Amino acid sequence: MAGAGGRRKVTVIGAGMVGGVVAQMLAMRDYADVVLVDVVEGMPQGKALDMMQMGTLIGFDSNITGSNGYDESAGSDVVVITSGIARKPGMSRDDLLRTNMGIVESVTKQIVPGSPNAIIVVVSNPLDAMCHVAFDAAGFRRERIIGMAGVLDSARFRTFIAMELDVSVEDVTAMVLGGHGDTMVPLSRYSTVNGIPIPELMTADRVAAIEQRTASGGAEIVSLLKTGSAYYAPGMSVVEMVDSLLLDKKRVVPCSVLLKGEYGIMNLFVGVPVKLGANGVEQIFELELTESERAALKQSSGAVKELVEAMAALKSKPAA
Ligand SMILES: NC(=O)c1ccc[n+]([C@@H]2O[C@H](COP(=O)([O-])OP(=O)(O)OC[C@H]3O[C@@H](n4cnc5c(N)ncnc54)[C@H](O)[C@@H]3O)[C@@H](O)[C@H]2O)c1
Repeated sequence: MAGAGGRRKVTVIGAGMVGGVVAQMLAMRDYADVVLVDVVEGMPQGKALDMMQMGTLIGFDSNITGSNGYDESAGSDVVVITSGIARKPGMSRDDLLRTNMGIVESVTKQIVPGSPNAIIVVVSNPLDAMCHVAFDAAGFRRERIIGMAGVLDSARFRTFIAMELDVSVEDVTAMVLGGHGDTMVPLSRYSTVNGIPIPELMTADRVAAIEQRTASGGAEIVSLLKTGSAYYAPGMSVVEMVDSLLLDKKRVVPCSVLLKGEYGIMNLFVGVPVKLGANGVEQIFELELTESERAALKQSSGAVKELVEAMAALKSKPAA
């Protein structure tokens, strides 16, 4: 379905740091109108107006609308969910899980009636768990609920490989599997510099160090920023996914998708390589894994399962 003026329409829910970058970078692509939704009064409207004025300087014609409601989002082709809160001092993991579950469930239920054909890209953390929440609340087929994590994690991996080898990032490809968190599985064997696997270009120690830095890539930035978490690369990772969906580019990138037996994993959102096109997830690629890679993926999907079970327990136990 087309947005106002015949353009495609993308709604970004949560006009915070990540949502702002997604809206800005998408508007600069100049093929879609963007609707920014947030609960904070005036803020999405203010950011939208600011971005529209930037359009005159850059030369894009995308229309950006800010709103505190969902009317403007009707007929969206893609909806990006970035709404949520960060963990505050004194807040338990369960408190955070309960709050973000509630937010993601509520925004999904509000988006679906006006945009029944949308593809939903989930960004809110804990990522894989929030994909389950959006999937249950939307009632869409699994092809249309996609979690953003692997694109970012592999961008981080690519950055560290390029820095280590002093080569152009353009020649580096990288693959990361698993849940979005400490248990993610950077796959060096499938990461290359123009086709040359990186284990042939650096020592095993350096490979291990870069894999470790990738797995804690988010935490490294949080500890530097002191408040808040990364948003430039996360925002741009979302835009890369939206490009592939709306321009039907059929990029092959790691995303969190609901597995139904692939990799021996059943009914869990876990990051694996997929093809993204006009129909959402158009193919799931099953890589040959070594014993230890398979074990690491199992451990990572186990961490997602624990969160799903924690959410089920929280649902049956009302908030204190
Ligand atoms: N998947 C990833 O790789 C990845 C990367 C970076 C950040 N994140 C996650 O993305 C989320 C957003 O991060 P951020 O830095 O932009 O945070 P932020 O606090 O800057 O923005 C979140 C926004 O959501 C809004 N919000 C809260 N409840 C809402 C509701 N019910 N409806 C609409 N808007 C609502 C807030 O007002 C706020 O503006 C966080 O959960 C963060 O952990 C995920």
